[in-house]
Amino acid sequence: MKKITIAIDGFSSTGKSTLAKQLANHLGYIYVDTGAMYRAVAFFAMQNGYISASFFDKETLINSLPFIRLEFKFNPDLGFGEMYLNDTNVETQIRTIEVSNFVSKVAEISEVRSKLVEQQKQMGENKGIVMDGRDIGTVVFPDAELKIFMTASATTRAERRFAELKQKGDNVTYEEVLKNVEERDYIDTHREDSPLVMAEDAIEIDNSHLTREEQFEVVLSLVSEITKTN
Ligand code: DC
Repeated sequence: MKKITIAIDGFSSTGKSTLAKQLANHLGYIYVDTGAMYRAVAFFAMQNGYISASFFDKETLINSLPFIRLEFKFNPDLGFGEMYLNDTNVETQIRTIEVSNFVSKVAEISEVRSKLVEQQKQMGENKGIVMDGRDIGTVVFPDAELKIFMTASATTRAERRFAELKQKGDNVTYEEVLKNVEERDYIDTHREDSPLVMAEDAIEIDNSHLTREEQFEVVLSLVSEITKTN
């Protein structure tokens, strides 16, 4: 069957990566979580003291970009590629609330975006890819055969993210998580370079009231339609 490119964009914590992983596993496609790449750059900035609650040395981060090497290495036990920053597995470190608090500021920088977008385009050269993020259908793969735009209410998303972080033993409050979700929504939709917008040809899915399975079935039938007619 002909391989296509699937772009999944949307607000944070809408379950983009869950859907993308399900699709990639089912179709035998590569899965790329572009948020992990932005998170790894934010983690690098934190590690090197370029960013903190009251300080951000953008210039030094931009000058350090040639020394940031990002790679996904497939972990067969997990069924997806884990994020490596300069040969170190940072999959756990990039998922903390601290990284979530800084990542939107890092993702606003055009130099960061162009470096990551170039790498993402290369990953999709041979199609057969499901990529999730904020600008995949608009900037990375404007010609993707299938573009999904996922939404859900901020409170639904905060509840999901809070449960996830709690399960991992992260010591956060629901209010903190909701504040982070709302702040990221604002920054993601208002930044100058590649703000989060729905591509004109994207299909919107509000999953506030859909189960994972229902959502998966909806998107899988869209994939079947496209691969049938292509
Ligand atoms: O999907 P996520 O929550 O892990 O993404 C982390 C942050 O990275 C998010 O706040 C916005 C940014 N991001 C982006 O600007 N462009 C992408 N393609 C993916 C993520």
